[in-house]
Amino acid sequence: MLRLLVIHGPNLQMLGARQPTVYGRTTLTQINQLLQAEAQRLNVSLTILQSNHEGDIVEAIGRARGRYAGILINPAAYTHTSVAIRDAIEGAALPTVEVHLSNIAAREPFRHTSLIAPVAVGQVSGFGVASYRLGLQALAAVVARRPAARRVDKSRAGR
Ligand code: DQA
Repeated sequence: MLRLLVIHGPNLQMLGARQPTVYGRTTLTQINQLLQAEAQRLNVSLTILQSNHEGDIVEAIGRARGRYAGILINPAAYTHTSVAIRDAIEGAALPTVEVHLSNIAAREPFRHTSLIAPVAVGQVSGFGVASYRLGLQALAAVVARRPAARRVDKSRAGR
């Protein structure tokens, strides 16, 4: 089964209570439950982490190579500031999908730039909790298409 890493960035532990008009009332625990249910349906396994610390996120991405087939990340505020997370994703060379609950292009000008987008396979932004589900579906489709992932699947299936 393909393994994917899900990373939630800073302040997302406050979802549910944090600016509900922008981010909705769904908690991070509920988002993680939804992701696990979708992962089961897609036949992939997820490791999920949340951190408020840029260095922890950089290290998690650095360790992901060889362990995970891809990364789903909501870099939160680091989207707009972190060259370090951008470089970690580029260095890990794992397919990465960027997600945002809110439509960052429709918000304050400082949110319009994503340093992560150029090193991501793609970005899903503005669909609330559905951004995560759509992002996971997109990532699962991308990793399933990769030759290395197919080889792993075949050997596991004994073909
Ligand atoms: C966010 C958008 C970011 O601009 C913001 O800093 C967040 C959440 C989103 O999911 O909409 O913390 O990534």
